[in-house]
Amino acid sequence: IQTETPASLIMIFGATGDLAKRKLYPSLYHLYRKGKLADHFAVIGVARRPWTNDVLREHVKDSVLTSIKDAENIDDFISHFYYQPHDVSDSNSYIELKNLADELDNKYTLQGNRIFYLAMAPEFFGTIAEHLKMDGLTNTEGFNRLVIEKPFGHDLESAIQLNNRIRNVFPENEIYRIDHYLGKEMVQNIEVIRFANAIFEPLWNNRFISNIQITSSEVLGVEERGGYYETSGALRDMVQNHMLQMVALLAMEPPIKLTPKEIRSEKVKVLGALRPVENEEVPQYFVRGQYGPSNLNGQEIPGYREELNVNPDSNTDTYVAGKLMIDNFRWAGVPFYIRTGKRMQTKSTKIIIQFKDVPMNLYYKSDNQLAPNLLVIHIQPEEGITLHLNAKQSSGHSTETTPVKLDFSNNDIAGLNTPEAYEKLLHDCLRGDATNFTHWDEVALSWSFVDKISNFWENEKAAFPNYEAGSMGPKEADQLLEKDGFFWWNVSNLE
Ligand code: BG6
Repeated sequence: IQTETPASLIMIFGATGDLAKRKLYPSLYHLYRKGKLADHFAVIGVARRPWTNDVLREHVKDSVLTSIKDAENIDDFISHFYYQPHDVSDSNSYIELKNLADELDNKYTLQGNRIFYLAMAPEFFGTIAEHLKMDGLTNTEGFNRLVIEKPFGHDLESAIQLNNRIRNVFPENEIYRIDHYLGKEMVQNIEVIRFANAIFEPLWNNRFISNIQITSSEVLGVEERGGYYETSGALRDMVQNHMLQMVALLAMEPPIKLTPKEIRSEKVKVLGALRPVENEEVPQYFVRGQYGPSNLNGQEIPGYREELNVNPDSNTDTYVAGKLMIDNFRWAGVPFYIRTGKRMQTKSTKIIIQFKDVPMNLYYKSDNQLAPNLLVIHIQPEEGITLHLNAKQSSGHSTETTPVKLDFSNNDIAGLNTPEAYEKLLHDCLRGDATNFTHWDEVALSWSFVDKISNFWENEKAAFPNYEAGSMGPKEADQLLEKDGFFWWNVSNLE
């Protein structure tokens, strides 16, 4: 892994699309401004529309100026951008692209280093990868890295097919599968909190932890993404990737070294130890939901079934809560509860580690029950950790306790939807560090866990809609924990 970013040519397939505009161009600009893009770099925007270099450059400029008002040297930055109109299944298009790439290679002395970023509809991933090889775009002296956005398949079978096609032309170590949660500051911090502090790791197991809760809630509905979401739902959209990745980071053993290989193989072991949820067991472990129409603060909110490009009888889940068991020595008996959904009360991602109670409560009084210790990892919007303890009530009697909070929060609230995570991931890819990208083994294990649940759901009609906009989901999600003697901590109270 290099510490400096080498000269490189970045080709963005899907250059006129939403992701490029909202995340990739601002991220590249941030890297440029921070001096993290080598002096020698060029970007080719590739897409179907008949744009020119100038149109792309203006588009990139606009996208940068939307989030950064005083974008210094923006004109120099955009001068590194070139546009190539493209037809994904036509070899001539790739030959033209190769000619432009070779020309820029010489012009900017890029040493043949190439990044191919596929920021477009997943059905084209395999075709593009094959053409890149077949039409000679990867035939250079330098490195070749293929960056792939989600979704990586729709289930295990389609993911295997896609992976086989890609692996025929790119070896695993050249494939960078994006999970943007792995670029989030506090997701990356999970490992450091655990392994750089003597006080947590000895307690990080089934002897001291009673349960772990991960909530990732969103306020928005599916917006204009109804077409995609109908084929996905919350389980595939959020659980198969982001939620299971957080579980893996929380549960993995300390890696022997901080290399991509060692870290990813520890995560793979966790995913392999997830207890499979078989057929009729699904309702005991998983709850699905779909938001209905409602009136929130005087505003009419359409239900999921009324959204654009959504089937009026849709059975698609917009909410999932689940109980995951990890069958290994460290975690036997400790439930990991997860929940995620659209149109919930707040936009927030938090991890709550609940410790077991003290062996005997000396301070028990009917009105003074000891609260369990909690370690809360605040992923977004605020970033930080808080530790919730019991202390003596100030100037009260010594048997009177009160909850107190040690707060290590970063006061700068991370802006939602900022390109920050993408900036980190792009920088990692430029340096050749694949740690925060998902290895195929992780993808395959996550799909095989999720497939059992989605297969069961597909054959059962759901009683949808079953939760209202602005709520924390259906009541069955509360019962999931109540059965075990727990409850969801109110994420808003823990801020
Ligand atoms: C994406 C999902 O992967 O993650 C979206 O496709 C979801 O549906 C998004 O809204 C959430 O990401 P974040 O960073 O806003 O929490």
